[in-house]
Amino acid sequence: MDIWSYTQSGYREEDTVTNGNRFLVGNGYMGYRGTMDEWGKSEFAAVNLAGVYDQNGDKWREPVNAPNGLFAVLSVNGETVALGKTTAQKHTQTVHFRRGTHSRDTLFAPVRIRSERFVSMAEKHLLCSRLTLTFSEDCQAELLTGIVTDIWDINGPHLFNYTYQADSILLAEARTGELNIPVAAAQSVKAGFDCAEKRESTETGVYRRLSFNAEAGKSYVIDIFSAVFTGLDDKEPGKQAYSLCQKAAESGFESLLSAHRAAWEELWQNSAVELQGCDEAARALNASLYHLHSIAPRHASALSIPARGLSGQTYKGAVFWDSEIFLFPVFVHTEPELAKTLLRYRIETLPGALKKAAEYGYRGAFYPWESQEGGAEGCTDYNVVDVFTHRPVRTYFRDKQIHISGDIAYALWRYYEITGDLSLMREGGAEVILQCARFYLSRAHSRLDTDKVELLDVIGPDEYHERVGNNVFTNQMAAHCIACSLELPELFPDSSFFDDLIKKLDYEDDFNLLKKLLPLLRPAFEEGEIIEQFDGYLELEDCDLETVRGRLLDEREYWGTNHGVAAHTRIIKQADVIAMMALFPSQFSDKTVERNWRFYEPRTEHGSSLSSCMYALTACRFGQPDLAWEHFIKTASIDLEGGGKNWAGEIYIGGTHPAANGGAWIIAVLGFAGLSVLNGELTANPRLPSQIKSLRFPVTLRGKRVCVTVTHDGWTVE
Ligand code: BGC
Repeated sequence: MDIWSYTQSGYREEDTVTNGNRFLVGNGYMGYRGTMDEWGKSEFAAVNLAGVYDQNGDKWREPVNAPNGLFAVLSVNGETVALGKTTAQKHTQTVHFRRGTHSRDTLFAPVRIRSERFVSMAEKHLLCSRLTLTFSEDCQAELLTGIVTDIWDINGPHLFNYTYQADSILLAEARTGELNIPVAAAQSVKAGFDCAEKRESTETGVYRRLSFNAEAGKSYVIDIFSAVFTGLDDKEPGKQAYSLCQKAAESGFESLLSAHRAAWEELWQNSAVELQGCDEAARALNASLYHLHSIAPRHASALSIPARGLSGQTYKGAVFWDSEIFLFPVFVHTEPELAKTLLRYRIETLPGALKKAAEYGYRGAFYPWESQEGGAEGCTDYNVVDVFTHRPVRTYFRDKQIHISGDIAYALWRYYEITGDLSLMREGGAEVILQCARFYLSRAHSRLDTDKVELLDVIGPDEYHERVGNNVFTNQMAAHCIACSLELPELFPDSSFFDDLIKKLDYEDDFNLLKKLLPLLRPAFEEGEIIEQFDGYLELEDCDLETVRGRLLDEREYWGTNHGVAAHTRIIKQADVIAMMALFPSQFSDKTVERNWRFYEPRTEHGSSLSSCMYALTACRFGQPDLAWEHFIKTASIDLEGGGKNWAGEIYIGGTHPAANGGAWIIAVLGFAGLSVLNGELTANPRLPSQIKSLRFPVTLRGKRVCVTVTHDGWTVE
């Protein structure tokens, strides 16, 4: 088995959506779905852009898909040849993880079509494709290629007032509807043979027709280059796209590919985990890291990663806690600069979080549950549509999932703990932590008849139980955030930085209140006890997962909210108490973790791809990595298998699963190898399952790369 690629043979129409995700290529600036060269809107071809959003009317705000400049469809003797419409005798589609490319090889009766495509890791605006056409008979061939502007959108259209230019370089320019952001795509081609060229623009784009007399047995190679720029990159995105396409054609496919491959190789040098003992697992882990690298915003200084990456407009292209809890750990250990980029996004979007808190009548920073650019809240009041009545259902994710602010403070603190680097704290991280702590201070309830302080009416990671009291994960996160805010002065003993900050934020009184609040809010745990997920959880119906599943009337039904099948039971969507234990390992003994694991795991639907990672990680911690194995395989292979839920009620939630991709690395490195880095010092505590013989992986410590090898007998570091 080649652990560095994945190939699917044969064509099945029903795989179109999943394959678009599975075979995605991207570079953090944009993602190109794994569709055929000749496909369009109805097969969900899309060039998904990072950080550019638009709202059409009162539909959901979502990221913008750019015009598709790699479109190419062949006709032979006047007949269109297209997968899905023309019978293919053989067809394979491959994603090459190490080189960061996608290829297809399809044999139709008159012609074999091969293509290799990449979104350049060396030049963020560039997409390249090489088409190789080999004919089985002499014929008249015509390739229609160009920039398609009739594109797939979930809540679109988003681009208006198109203008076209049809020189040797094609150009399509438009503007977004809401913010009037210009978006431009250009295309150039280089044919390795003589052909006649005609150009045209239509309602659906701007194209060129390349016609030639094809000879049987001969191969014809055409290289296609497309560039995408927006008004967020440059004042004249059209000019930039045009000139980049010109340069790309001059440089040629081979040299662009080699620069792209070199950039990918460097990423792998910093991050590849060599897993010996199980090729399937090794490949799934490579696939996970491939997907993460394809969407990581290396081109920006402050940007984060949407919950479905760059695979489409699902989940409104928004950033969730996934970034801090499931993606940040990978990057802080392998590419700390990128970890900073993710966290700077939260620092830059602090004004949005302050505004949201104020809208709800609180002080401090209440971060958006689904964060879009500038920290705008993308989560709507009605985030699910009921499958029976087709009516929107009032959900409370945006109002009540208050652990988000604590999750962000947690990652900022971890960045400091792991690297010992205070720069992020100075750049605004300390202010974020203080503002998050202030939010919890104003959100907490105290009662007149007891000295109890509570966080009431919240939603924890388990979203199936809404509006509960004292979700232990939330209380723990809030308490940790407050504790960090109180520890902050110790980080800056000899500078006026912190005193100035306290003055600027008028924080003196809050500081004193937080000191009082912390012991009252921090949950107390008894050794070996089953920790109740929230007040009253243990009084809910105790039935098994299959019983609850059996009550579904429609498989797309949403399990949470008032009428959901799980809401009145102890069945939970995803790790909650166990997620807390995974994130605060030193606070729970192995015995307590194991007891809670064995209690909660059978009661967990794992309805979120975030869940298994936490169960796997904790199973390693209490010394049972074999219990983690299945969760590891499930997490690591999610985008190869096309797993995960596609529907929440009537809302499509499919796409790639960055949190699970990050989760796969977390399980392997922080779980199986037991890596722990504190203040730049590294240790390991191997807990390898029987399927794995050894793991070898790089870690970046204070700018230097070290390599850790872990076997059943111990660990070494070079
Ligand atoms: C999960 C959340 C997660 C979101 C985005 C939801 O299904 O319950 O925890 O943040 O998906 O991945």
